[in-house]
Amino acid sequence: MTVEKRIADLEALRDRIREGGGPERLARQHAEGKLSAHERVELLLDPGSFLELDPFVVHRCRDFGMEKTSFPGDGVVCGAGRIDGRAVYVFAQDFTIFGGSLSESNAEKICKVMDLAVQNGAPIIGLNDSGGARIQEGVVSLAGYSKVFLRNTRASGVVPQISAILGPCAGGAVYSPAITDFIFMTEKTSYLFVTGPDVIRTVTHEEVTKEDLGGSRTHSAVSGVAHFVRKNDEAVLAGIRQLLSYLPSNNLDDPPRTEALDPPRSASELDSFIPEEPNRPYDMAELVRRVADGGLFLEVQGAFAQNILCGFGRLGGRSIGVVANQPMHLAGVLDIDASVKAARFVRFCDAFNIPLLVFEDVPGFLPGTQQEYGGIIRHGAKLLYAFAEATVPKVSVVTRKAYGGAYCVMLSKDIATDFNFAYPTAEIAVMGPEGAVNVLYRRELPPDAPPEKRAEKVAEYVDNFANPYIAARRGYVDQVIEPSETREKLIQAFGLLEGKRVSLPKKKHGNIPL
Ligand code: HXC
Repeated sequence: MTVEKRIADLEALRDRIREGGGPERLARQHAEGKLSAHERVELLLDPGSFLELDPFVVHRCRDFGMEKTSFPGDGVVCGAGRIDGRAVYVFAQDFTIFGGSLSESNAEKICKVMDLAVQNGAPIIGLNDSGGARIQEGVVSLAGYSKVFLRNTRASGVVPQISAILGPCAGGAVYSPAITDFIFMTEKTSYLFVTGPDVIRTVTHEEVTKEDLGGSRTHSAVSGVAHFVRKNDEAVLAGIRQLLSYLPSNNLDDPPRTEALDPPRSASELDSFIPEEPNRPYDMAELVRRVADGGLFLEVQGAFAQNILCGFGRLGGRSIGVVANQPMHLAGVLDIDASVKAARFVRFCDAFNIPLLVFEDVPGFLPGTQQEYGGIIRHGAKLLYAFAEATVPKVSVVTRKAYGGAYCVMLSKDIATDFNFAYPTAEIAVMGPEGAVNVLYRRELPPDAPPEKRAEKVAEYVDNFANPYIAARRGYVDQVIEPSETREKLIQAFGLLEGKRVSLPKKKHGNIPL
């Protein structure tokens, strides 16, 4: 055979590889508003940077007539490329080939890129669109999943792992994304569930649609499984690029530094931002945006446990992980969902050298049987543990309330916080004035006591305790700052903490209360 013929054959094979499961299935994929696996990878990566690996791999199944059907690539597009010039490793399941299902060879391809990513200190991005384990392969495909799960777990805390759900994701297939650091979903074309509506109908007689069971709204607002929802494939891929801009490539790197862009609004406007009335809500996300570089704040799990805000911003060009109580929802109280949401975010930031900033306005933990029976003790302890364990630079700003156990949790001085700031409006106390007066003056103020008497005691408590100066006199607060100084002080603080080093006793790992 001539060289020309060999090259022509290779080119023809390459064209066939790009076609995936064939023009018909590709047209169906497009008709559903989904891109092909190759199109997704190319949109995700810097133009022309994709190096595909193993496009000729085929399955080895000889059952159910499978020996007669195979497609090069076997339903997953794998390789490496660059995002904003930095190396990343990627796999994209191809739904047009056996429904993107996971086979033995397909799992080997995924494991190969995961191993390369860890070895080279580069993020792993998985674009999921799959019917789960390849039914024809049985246990071999289940073993393939186990190999992927093992690698997800071992890579955790070493390189960032990001999953996009761009189609169905069923059965055990959900657990690889679940171990990764961040999950993106498309609005209408993605589903995640352990068992689908048909099985649920048989087992529990419940009627539920695919959308209600495992669609993007459910997972972003109710279960908290998804961190980001975007309109379609293109928006998810752009979202992954944006998220990566805040992250280092691995646990030994620092996040990329950018130019320090001032926020659009003048700092002086912040002095009137915190309301005079102690129970009036205000938008903490807006405060974060007014302080952050360029007014930008990328919220993580924005629709879930909205009483706490988690997300990435920059201060003076440095990437920062922000955790903040949100007085607009449940008065910013800490409950089970908020604790778990923030704990996972804090641990991610700590693993990847992203300094932590807390804005605190918290009336305490949410009281009630629902929370106690649900385990607020062990769930709240997760957040306490995560903040206490973190050794990255830690800075807090108390804007208003810092009451009770929630004061301790939200980066108080004595869980090794580097700098503690408070606004003049801060109230640091064991509990709010009404509750405190009820306990302290139970005998003097029975329920039928004149309201003026109670109001007098409340006012006395507020004058004496509801301010930042008692804490500041003892060094629990390092500096009381004006709100308009926030950005300047925070940039200064994180700059000074850049060389932070902490050494702790060696251990295999801690035992976070899961
Ligand atoms: C082999 C599969 C497949 C699978 C889909 N296909 N899932 N082939 N193994 N798991 C094939 C179909 O036969 C079809 O082939 C093509 O992919 C497209 O599938 P459709 O059903 O036509 O697509 P759609 O109507 O969009 O439905 C998508 C779907 C459905 C909801 C994902 O295919 C489905 O329910 N699949 C099975 C899901 C499942 O139960 N998987 C096992 C989960 S258990 P043709 O040739 O017609 O194009 C699991 C265990 C993991 O994953 C354990 C790890 C611990």
